Amino acid sequence: MLLLLFLTASVLVIWAKQTGLGKVFSGTEQKGREERGSDVLRCHALASAGTDAPEGRGQGRWRVFANGTLAIARAGLEDRGQYLCTAANPHGTAQLLVTLSVVAYPPRIAGGRWQLLTAHSGKPVAVACRAEGRPPPTIAWVLANKTHVSDSSTGNNDVRVEPDGTLIIKEATVYDRGLYTCVARNPAGTDTLVVKLQVVAAPPAILEEKRERVEGTMGENLKLPCTVTGNPRPAVHWVLFDGTVVKPLQFVNGKLFLFANGTLHLSTIAPSDSGNYECIATSSTGSDRRVVTLVVEPGPVKGISGESLSLHCLSEGSPRPRTAWTLPGGSVLERPQLGRKHVLLENGTLLIRDASIHDRGDYVCRAHNNAGESSVTVPVVIVAYAPRITISSVTDGSAKRRGGTWGR
Ligand SMILES: *[C@@H]1O[C@H](CO)[C@@H](O)[C@H](O)[C@H]1NC(C)=O
Ligand SMILES: *[C@@H]1O[C@H](CO)[C@@H](O)[C@H](O)[C@H]1NC(C)=O
Ligand SMILES: *[C@@H]1O[C@H](CO)[C@@H](O)[C@H](O)[C@H]1NC(C)=O
Ligand SMILES: *[C@@H]1O[C@H](CO)[C@@H](O)[C@H](O)[C@H]1NC(C)=O
Repeated sequence: MLLLLFLTASVLVIWAKQTGLGKVFSGTEQKGREERGSDVLRCHALASAGTDAPEGRGQGRWRVFANGTLAIARAGLEDRGQYLCTAANPHGTAQLLVTLSVVAYPPRIAGGRWQLLTAHSGKPVAVACRAEGRPPPTIAWVLANKTHVSDSSTGNNDVRVEPDGTLIIKEATVYDRGLYTCVARNPAGTDTLVVKLQVVAAPPAILEEKRERVEGTMGENLKLPCTVTGNPRPAVHWVLFDGTVVKPLQFVNGKLFLFANGTLHLSTIAPSDSGNYECIATSSTGSDRRVVTLVVEPGPVKGISGESLSLHCLSEGSPRPRTAWTLPGGSVLERPQLGRKHVLLENGTLLIRDASIHDRGDYVCRAHNNAGESSVTVPVVIVAYAPRITISSVTDGSAKRRGGTWGR
């Protein structure tokens, strides 16, 4: 009789009843394997029917039960060979020879013995090491710094081995590069896999558009974002059109503030804030930049009812452009012109005399030469103040200005 014993956990060897001899054994006294190193096991089964069978007896991993069953726990390659069971009772003696073959084969790691792996700095790394074998091999890793790690080793949260043998590095750094060896081992042998880990750093990258035009209106607060990625983490600063440098968490001129996340905050913007704003992200691995062109449209020009109001229109070009104003009503003034209500000066400035609520609206200044034309719209609002009487010995003109409806 040949018993194939697969090397897994405990294995039962069942002693067959000797039906050929017509004998039935019911063991009450058994001896387990008597000498270690001997592959022969004597199995005395003395018949004494009716009594309760005692617990199995034996040595080490060997147990012989009352019913004549031999159990071998954690069978290994050294257990292979022949086993003889001798059973006797008052009617006679029977012997059984059992050949035990232990099937085992050495580990084999899937996918070759050498691998090159490129990981990104700051990201987790998983290096698989799947090994077959019988019995299933245990997996251990030797890290680049010669530290040994297996799934049973605990303590280090940064590096661990999953039950399936995968090595996990929580967050790769350039210091983790090197050779990592996976060792799969079982009683039949070992297999190894060598992985060369390269860790590349991520250069700085700005997520927002590289060139952007932002139009703001006078008086508002603006946020210009500049979100960076990269490992090592890049440093961010902004450079303004006039050369001003703004660093993180720095206030400049009571107007600019750079948040830690790279967003530049501008408060109460004015036309003079128009220009290029450059965000620069740098790290040891490179740099990235983005340019925001800010255009702050002038807000409406405020005129005071009853007073004169000047609208300036500066133009440049070659040949020297001619300027013309289009009034809210649609009429066009070519310069120079001297009207009762509107005066267009030689330098392009439009003077509105004795402004009233009817003068509000959009004034368009158009400059043109034979190379082309450009225009700018100037919204005008006229404010009137209710009369206010100031009792004061000093008349400094402010009463007159506030109370524009009287005195003219
Ligand atoms: C003999 O007894 C053992 C332990 O009680 C049991 O595991 C095994 O299955 C039995 N064998 C037979 C053939 O009944
Ligand atoms: C060995 O390297 C691992 C991962 O690179 C790291 O977590 C561990 O702290 C290092 N051990 C020593 C002793 O340097
Ligand atoms: C940056 O931080 C500021 C202040 O916490 C916040 O208002 C702004 O929305 C953030 N910007 C981005 C792009 O996350
Ligand atoms: C144009 O000339 C007038 C009168 O001399 C002056 O008040 C005004 O400021 C000038 N405009 C500009 C834009 O210089």
